[in-house]
Amino acid sequence: MDQDELKRAAARAAIEHVLDREVVGVGTGSTANFFIDELARIRERIRGAVASSERSRRRLEARGIEVFDLDAVGELSVYVDGADEINRAMHMIKGGGGALTREKIVAAVSHKFVCIADESKMVGSLGRFPLPLEVIPMALGHVCKEVARIGGRGVLRQGFVTDNGNLIVDVHGLEILDPPAVETRFNQIVGVVTNGLFALRPADVCLLATMAGVQTIIAAT
Ligand code: A5P
Repeated sequence: MDQDELKRAAARAAIEHVLDREVVGVGTGSTANFFIDELARIRERIRGAVASSERSRRRLEARGIEVFDLDAVGELSVYVDGADEINRAMHMIKGGGGALTREKIVAAVSHKFVCIADESKMVGSLGRFPLPLEVIPMALGHVCKEVARIGGRGVLRQGFVTDNGNLIVDVHGLEILDPPAVETRFNQIVGVVTNGLFALRPADVCLLATMAGVQTIIAAT
């Protein structure tokens, strides 16, 4: 199986977590795209979806799934999304696709977060994948200075503007030993809208696609 087949297997397994007649929270990225394709096969069973990006909104609509604004729904039973890295505590780095802020909002209103990933995403400790920050444009210089004070190296993602009209700074060189503390620390930088650590609201379950099948992993205590 290649990586795309693993992603598709994780996405297919997530359908078991989708409740009939509910609105489903849908993430962003290549693994989430496979989930959208799987969701389209059962679209008669669900009311619709809330999308964490304009890209996912377009893909959902193109497959005949109604997309609701979050405020029209309020809360969601389940949110399904990929990750760039995930550890055994279900802490994640997300935002490789730049949709971290909307992803964090959808995750915050969802009762269950199902992370779908191929086995390459499972790591012992987070931080090898650069941590994305969504940044208000006028704060770019200030944010990069603060990132350096914390010990990281901020790199502006060239030619990229988020769905919210902001910039992405990718932070390299971090060793994230205490993900909730690091998430809190980056949130405190003025001008940072969101950072891509999902530790204060981790996943509830990870469907990890391996060569031996899809494993269901819950947080280690
Ligand atoms: C999008 O902003 C991200 O959070 C994605 O969930 C993450 O980058 C995983 O993407 P892939 O499924 O494409 O690896």
